[in-house]
Amino acid sequence: MQHFVSIQELSRTELEALIDDALVRAEAKVIHDTQLGHICVASLFFENSTRTRVSFELAAKRLGAHHVNVNLAQSSQTKGETVWDTVATLQAMGIDQLVVRTSTVGLPAELALKASDLKIINAGEANVSHPSQALLDLVTLKERKGRIDNLSIAIVGDIAHSRVARSFVQGATKLGCSDIRLVAPKQWQAKSADFAGLTFTDELAPAINDADVVMALRIQKERLEADDLLDLEDYRAGFSLTRARLDAAKKDLLVMHPGPINRNVELSDEVADGPRSVIQRQVAIGVPTRMAILSALAKV
Ligand code: CP
Repeated sequence: MQHFVSIQELSRTELEALIDDALVRAEAKVIHDTQLGHICVASLFFENSTRTRVSFELAAKRLGAHHVNVNLAQSSQTKGETVWDTVATLQAMGIDQLVVRTSTVGLPAELALKASDLKIINAGEANVSHPSQALLDLVTLKERKGRIDNLSIAIVGDIAHSRVARSFVQGATKLGCSDIRLVAPKQWQAKSADFAGLTFTDELAPAINDADVVMALRIQKERLEADDLLDLEDYRAGFSLTRARLDAAKKDLLVMHPGPINRNVELSDEVADGPRSVIQRQVAIGVPTRMAILSALAKV
């Protein structure tokens, strides 16, 4: 693995190895190791983040690596430096791995092509991809369900603007899962090759009543355009995950959400904090998952 830019670029063997390594690390609960004591990781976030930014930093530190957070507001970006000049500067100073979040489609792949001594890690790319989130979602499923290939999974919400949904579908499909139901209001049903072969519905109940997993998505307010806008009351009425709606579902249904949550919009407090929710486990498992990514990249 030369870079970690998309789930699509990983072979099934590489994806399974990352999941297995993350599960071993999650079980071991290692909080300090010296495995990556010889490398330096930098984080460069052009969009806000709590989970991804902090968990990559924790992952680097738990592996003994040096970690630098590039503060964009105080960086030479404010003087008009290009993104590549900033990245080349970090590379010249000996940064080994760069974690990048961006709203520019194609930037992680472009940086990976240009970088000679630097591994690029995509920490979220516009509405296109979020491969480390997909990986931690798959690790959580493997831990809780023991399998991924024959699960029935409903993804609910703002699918059109969701990089989480796109990367998760790529990963689950690669691992043999074919029963993925996409539930969204009509204006958020993406007409995209990313979801080829899957069917959209705007009826929540039939999609979740016999599902093993339901993944609610954050409404991507920052990416909504005028003709995408939806009244929040209409959204709640049709798509919000509430205890009453989950009463008819399987007892062992897992409720997932990548965070951050719009509480009582995408799902109720009761569901978000209830016994079927693995949302906090997704957050926790993000650290060993990102340790597995950094470690795999350091081996090449
Ligand atoms: N799920 C996710 O990417 O969250 P952050 O934006 O907090 O990193």
